[in-house]
Amino acid sequence: MRRRKTLIGLDIGTRSVKAVEMSWASGAPVITGFGYAPLPSPQAVPETVLRVLQESSFHTREVVTSVSGKSVIVRYLTMLKMSREDLKSAIKFEADKYIPFDVEDVILDCHPFDSDGIGDLADNETRVLLVACKRAVIDEQMRILAEVGLQPVAVDVDVFALGNAFETAVRRPGSAPTVTALVDIGASKTSVNLVRNNTSLFTREIHTGGEAITQAVASRLALHDSEAEVLKCNPGGEAERLRHAVAPAVDDLAAEVRLSFEYFENQFEMGIDEVLLSGGGSRLGGLEDDLGRIFGRPTLTWDPTGDLPIASGSVNVEALHERIPELAVAVGLAARIRKDAR
Ligand SMILES: Nc1ncnc2c1ncn2[C@@H]1O[C@H](COP(=O)(O)OP(=O)(O)OP(=O)(O)O)[C@@H](O)[C@H]1O
Ligand SMILES: [Mg+2]
Repeated sequence: MRRRKTLIGLDIGTRSVKAVEMSWASGAPVITGFGYAPLPSPQAVPETVLRVLQESSFHTREVVTSVSGKSVIVRYLTMLKMSREDLKSAIKFEADKYIPFDVEDVILDCHPFDSDGIGDLADNETRVLLVACKRAVIDEQMRILAEVGLQPVAVDVDVFALGNAFETAVRRPGSAPTVTALVDIGASKTSVNLVRNNTSLFTREIHTGGEAITQAVASRLALHDSEAEVLKCNPGGEAERLRHAVAPAVDDLAAEVRLSFEYFENQFEMGIDEVLLSGGGSRLGGLEDDLGRIFGRPTLTWDPTGDLPIASGSVNVEALHERIPELAVAVGLAARIRKDAR
């Protein structure tokens, strides 16, 4: 494989498009490009991507994008150890057991992974991550990238990009193994990735997020969706009224996330030490405190650009800092440069 020095992580979300360019310099990643724009409608993706790419001087056309939502299936399996080739054909043969779609309509990927000493594995067994995505979703994304003159290098899944961002940006020298719950609250969905020692042990996508919160505000305060969105993001003197209006929707979201936590804790017999929030939805006033209370463990928003150096010559650092919570997935996608540059 050709070595690559620069790569753009392009996160096309439901409500916004984010791009983070990462370059490899002196053996470490540097952020060399950034762009963000709200996405007015699904039809506006190509023009919005073009606008985002004009925000700073990007140095490449090569992008990593991601998929998410109900067209993507992620399964953790226990299989007999075998070669990568044999594994692929075994999975293809059995895929209809795990995937609720016609196998002909999906693109499949699988890899064995180190389960970090977890689970009752026999010596001849391994854990395998299986990912399937509807072919039509990938085809549509490829069509859009071609239309705007970008070259796809890889397609990842939002929830795994979240884990990669954490691995890239957060270094925890010599601490005891901590189980961290990464929770990215987007507009239409919430991604949950439970990681320990840089291994993702459990992921789940919950089909609710910031839009459900806006709808709760609209119905409780008898506002149009657009008015509710404005009030939600800029409550001013109405903060208390807003907090009251969003409470049931926040409780619903928290209950779903907690189900995942409980499942994990029972299944893996270990506790979750901390919860790190990202995504535009994590900006909701008081959310850290409310979720912290519901989850009963430290809950904070985190900075997915972490300690990464930023090339201030080509990046509007102030604009980037304003978008920190939204950037987790884009950073994780661009972080693939760590593999490709070596
Ligand atoms: N200040 C704020 N307070 C509350 N919510 C906010 C705020 N700013 C943005 N949001 C919400 O964040 C959501 C958008 O977040 P983000 O850009 O991460 O989503 P997305 O990546 O486009 O969506 P998805 O990941 O679901 O496809 C919207 O629902 C928006 O209302
Ligand atoms: Mg998103």
